[in-house]
Amino acid sequence: MKHYLSLFFALLLTSSTALKAQEQQAMRLGSETPEEKEQRMAWWKQDRFGMFIHFGLYAMPARHEWVKTLEKIPEEHYDKYFQHFNPENYDAKEWAKQAKEAGMKYVVMTTKHHEGFCLFDSKYTDYKSTNTPFGRDLIREYVDAFRAEGIKVGFYYSIIDWHHPHYPVEAIHPLRPGNFPLYQPFSLALSWRKSKRNDRRYAELNKERNMAIYREYMFNQVRELLTNYGEIDVMWFDFSTKKMEGVDGIRSYYGKSQEDYHAEELQKLVRELQPGIIINNRLDLHIYEDGEDFVTPEQVSTKELKAYRGKNWETCQTFSGSWGYHRGQDKKWKTEKELISLLITSVANGGNLLLNVGPTALGEFDYRANNALQRIGHWMRYHSKSIYGCTVAPDQYRAPKGTLLTWNAQTGQLYLHLLKQKKSYRLKNMARKLLYAELMHDRSEVQMYVRGNDIVLKLKRKHINSTVPVVELHLK
Ligand code: GLC
Repeated sequence: MKHYLSLFFALLLTSSTALKAQEQQAMRLGSETPEEKEQRMAWWKQDRFGMFIHFGLYAMPARHEWVKTLEKIPEEHYDKYFQHFNPENYDAKEWAKQAKEAGMKYVVMTTKHHEGFCLFDSKYTDYKSTNTPFGRDLIREYVDAFRAEGIKVGFYYSIIDWHHPHYPVEAIHPLRPGNFPLYQPFSLALSWRKSKRNDRRYAELNKERNMAIYREYMFNQVRELLTNYGEIDVMWFDFSTKKMEGVDGIRSYYGKSQEDYHAEELQKLVRELQPGIIINNRLDLHIYEDGEDFVTPEQVSTKELKAYRGKNWETCQTFSGSWGYHRGQDKKWKTEKELISLLITSVANGGNLLLNVGPTALGEFDYRANNALQRIGHWMRYHSKSIYGCTVAPDQYRAPKGTLLTWNAQTGQLYLHLLKQKKSYRLKNMARKLLYAELMHDRSEVQMYVRGNDIVLKLKRKHINSTVPVVELHLK
């Protein structure tokens, strides 16, 4: 009897999971075939390395791009940044040149961040760069300059808006209930916690606000961005606040999700206007089979990247913790080796790295960013072959401890990155496979000897002049 019962439950379970899978399969926003998708994503998987640019009014206070809400700055005080915005050294051509020299193949820049300020000449708002002392459409210049360098161009667009009078107040809004700045951890917790009192407070704060009006504004702006600037390669939305991505996946009761943003419609609009575009996952449409083109692990450690293998993913990372220019954050600055390791680890796990620069209010990359980009560029000059077009190495190849492998599926070429430098590295089961090994930065031979089925590479650190040396392994 017991036996029959468990059989019955097993059948029930399998049929219900099969049903669920079927339902999910049926849930699609478009009609693209997997082959078509593969084709659309091809350049993105090949290029691997992009530049993120966070620029806005927040570069002026220079204490994090969330400053308006972190410090609960009232609109009338924040307005002084709008009145004085004048990044007079802004030269998008210079930025594009720097990105190219660093080896970056695509770029994503903020057209509007959470603060609501638009870097483009939108006809739906006065809160835009053309109305500041600067008077220029930064996005127009950005698109032209990067495109001219052969770099693929993307737009970041914040669906959150802390300026629009109809964007309903939510847990991370500057006007959220309570008087605490976000620097005090409990203040955020208080504003997202479900309670009758909070329900009343939010209802009171939002009684004049109408999401439908904001939504129309957002749709109009997305239409403008994807109509007036030619072909755009990436659309990077940020972010649905109910599931607080970027804040440890915590759920907030006072946030918004796809129903509030009409995210399905928004995504469809994007695809209709730019059929070739690649869209990130922050509209929170993962319930649809084709709801996102790639996932966006933010500021995760290199150790965590392995978990994303098999998906299309891009990790976005800062130099120092803040996305917008932050004058006081020298101590947290990532070292040259950490940055290069991040790039290698991304590719070794089959993903992309989108590395952020937060330009200063003068419109320039600050000296630390310049320096980091130059160092990465120097490394890329010799090693880009182990990055572009590369991915996870097939299982049969094992990376010795302290190293990472990348593999170019098209050429079959294997690259061994020596993150920890030792005198020798043992490559398992390679005795009959490896023909020749050389260091990429000077094409000098790496001597080797056979040990059973393995091969041991012999290296002495003091002879290697590279932040992370890479051995090109020529196979039979
Ligand atoms: C986050 C932050 C934001 C930053 C972004 C980059 O969600 O809100 O300031 O722009 O992610 O990934």
